[in-house]
Amino acid sequence: MKEQTLCVIKPNAVKDNNIGAIIKMIEDEGLIVKGLKMTELSDKKVSAFYEEHVGKPFFDGLKEFMTSGKVVGIVLEGEDAISRLRRVMGATNPEKADDGTIRKLFAANMTENAVHGSDSPQSAKREIAFYFDNFSILD
Ligand code: RTP
Ligand code: MG
Repeated sequence: MKEQTLCVIKPNAVKDNNIGAIIKMIEDEGLIVKGLKMTELSDKKVSAFYEEHVGKPFFDGLKEFMTSGKVVGIVLEGEDAISRLRRVMGATNPEKADDGTIRKLFAANMTENAVHGSDSPQSAKREIAFYFDNFSILD
């Protein structure tokens, strides 16, 4: 089924100058870039965006990391875009990520793992709307 999903290139990958390399891997997978925005996230925005993780032991570290520099949000489209993006991203823990995946190549550790990808059609819809329409009302 044709789907849209949201990828966010995280601050470590932006700082490491890997925006282009990551987009190239995503395009080579056959996903189409439909929208793209560089921005910076506040504490409030990270808490809203990652609402399912608020209160977990790793959340404060995630928030500190996600507010540490610029991020690039990308709307991607294609057949089964959600699972295909997750496949090319690799596992959350880069030590467990398959060879040739974005996280294997560009993640520093479990927190600074280079990219975010929506994990379901519902989160893709929420995250795309949030990132491209609603973020500005949170500040
Ligand atoms: P994402 O949402 O960013 O695409 O990552 P994911 O689905 O692969 O992993 P998730 O469980 O949703 O975790 C969200 C992000 O939180 C950070 N994290 N750190 N240090 C830790 O134990 C830990 N666990 C998660 C990562 O940045 C992870 O991508
Ligand atoms: Mg997730």
